[in-house]
Amino acid sequence: MAIHETEERNGKLRTVMKLEPGERVALCRCMRSAEFPFCDGTHKSIEGSAGPAIVEALEAPVEEGATDK
Ligand code: FES
Repeated sequence: MAIHETEERNGKLRTVMKLEPGERVALCRCMRSAEFPFCDGTHKSIEGSAGPAIVEALEAPVEEGATDK
C-alpha cells in the first residue's frame, strides 16, 4: 500500500509517496478528491478538469541510462 505524506512548504502543498514494486495508483490532479492525493472520480463531474495521473512502480530498479533511448 502506498505510503504518503503531505506537508506545506512555502504556502504550497507537497506530497511525497512511496510505492511497493508493481504497485499502481491514480493521483488526483483536479484537487477536488475527498481521498486526496488519490483520485476518487470527482473529476468526472468537473467540466474541463484534468483526469488523474496514473503512476506505477516498476518491478525492478531502473538501471542508469535505461531511459536514454
Ligand atoms: S478526483 Fe481529481 S483527478 Fe480524479
